[in-house]
Amino acid sequence: MQTNALSEEQLANITEAIYQHGYGIIPDFFDTEFIQQLTQRVIESNALKKAGIGRQLNHQRNSDIRRDAILWLNNEHPTDQKYLAQMEAIRVTLNRQLFMGLFDYESHFAHYSKGAFYKKHLDAFKGRSNRVLTTVAYLDNHWKPGDGGELSLYSEQDELIAQVPPKAGTFVVFLSDEFPHEVHTCHDDRYSIAGWFRINTSHSAKVDPPR
Ligand code: OGA
Ligand code: MN
Repeated sequence: MQTNALSEEQLANITEAIYQHGYGIIPDFFDTEFIQQLTQRVIESNALKKAGIGRQLNHQRNSDIRRDAILWLNNEHPTDQKYLAQMEAIRVTLNRQLFMGLFDYESHFAHYSKGAFYKKHLDAFKGRSNRVLTTVAYLDNHWKPGDGGELSLYSEQDELIAQVPPKAGTFVVFLSDEFPHEVHTCHDDRYSIAGWFRINTSHSAKVDPPR
């Protein structure tokens, strides 16, 4: 059986990036074959549903903020299981090395079709959410300049830090309550997996998007 375990070096890269900068952008983190498997899995599922948002800010309509469709990963599905096992290795490493106290992980596939976007937002508000660390993995998007769908990452002072093309195999991690970010309008299909490591709080806010 193919295990697709992450190497010590991959785990150390993630730890170092979070420790040094609070974020990391790592091209070619996942191997091509695994990325193809995940892409096929989500496309064949035919089960993506319009995404919601947990908090309706200023009564904005959800579709004004985000236009992706999502499918939560399922630990009973062998392909999802492989991905979740890799995230579990990251969780354990971060807890051991950086004492982050990460309790669990939730993640969904996302499909942005032509014209879809996600306006600038934070995945967590300080002290009001149990989401601590965001991950994004880009699937087999055959991305080329002009396709749009870049992820822009901003500092707490709202300066642009990076603009990430959603290329197959790229992995992005960042502290959920420190980095505003947005997905620029897509001009072609864009598949990804977004996920969140969470801490266990008794006063956890609503999940975003709600299940
Ligand atoms: C999200 C998100 C970023 C991306 O789902 O919350 O910000 O690049 N995704 O898909
Ligand atoms: Mn986000």
